[in-house]
Amino acid sequence: MTEAPGAATFRTPAEAYDRHIGRYGGALARALIEAAGLAPGDRALDVGCGPGALTSELVALLGAEHVAAVDPSAPFVEACRERLPGVRVEVAAAERLPFADGAFDCALAQLVVNFMTDPPAGVRELRRVTRLGGTVAAAVWDYAGEMTILRRFWDAAVALDPSAEDRDEGRSMPFCMPAELGDLWASAGLADVRVAPVVVAAGYDGFEDLWQPLELGVAPSGAYAISLPPERRSALKRELRRRLGAGDGPFRLTARAWVATGRVGEAVDQAAARPA
Ligand SMILES: C[S@@+](CC[C@H](N)C(=O)[O-])C[C@H]1O[C@@H](n2cnc3c(N)ncnc32)[C@H](O)[C@@H]1O
Repeated sequence: MTEAPGAATFRTPAEAYDRHIGRYGGALARALIEAAGLAPGDRALDVGCGPGALTSELVALLGAEHVAAVDPSAPFVEACRERLPGVRVEVAAAERLPFADGAFDCALAQLVVNFMTDPPAGVRELRRVTRLGGTVAAAVWDYAGEMTILRRFWDAAVALDPSAEDRDEGRSMPFCMPAELGDLWASAGLADVRVAPVVVAAGYDGFEDLWQPLELGVAPSGAYAISLPPERRSALKRELRRRLGAGDGPFRLTARAWVATGRVGEAVDQAAARPA
């Protein structure tokens, strides 16, 4: 299977991710956990855990022994293991999860569905490892609309270089609208599917604090920034700053995500649901 184009942009040191999209992770994780209806005693799996933003909130609620996590990025798995001792963290992708059928009360994927190699197969795997009556939940950014930093970034990039349009995540991400996300959940055989907006925020010390992590090449936005020669990179930096209206002082940005939840309904043919 060919990896999704953006997936390789997460094989960076965890700190680069923490300073870019990771800033929004804790608040988004708390909203996702609430939407999934998790409660102490439940067992949860974090798929595409990254350095552990959602994993850490799951551990705070459920305890390390009730939480497992996977990600295909080795540096992120290493960071997650170091940060959260006692959690089983494996290098694995959503499409082939190393867990038994029905092993969890809830499987979650925060900001991952759009990076899966085969999203329908990945969501079917999340369903397979969740018990009957359990919940499969995910959050995706509203890349095309109100995920402020990424929307402004790609608007600035395309204004300066129309050929960047193909890399604009508002266009390239197949599941960044509620209808498509809901259909993905329903077509994986999940019941009572709901999709709702969640708005979170993150603070920056100043524009440099926002820009520097992009220079580390993390995520599709960072990978695009460092692909530019110095002059064009500086022009993008100026244009993004102008569009954000950001200066040298502190500011906050909001980011909207769509959260999908679905229940594992009638017993499925688990053998058929398993990947070949
Ligand atoms: C935007 S990051 C989100 C990380 C973390 N969930 C968070 O909220 O901070 C996307 C993550 O998806 C992971 N990923 C890429 N392809 C994947 C796949 N096929 N299955 C599971 N995770 C994948 C990446 O390695 C990366 O850690």
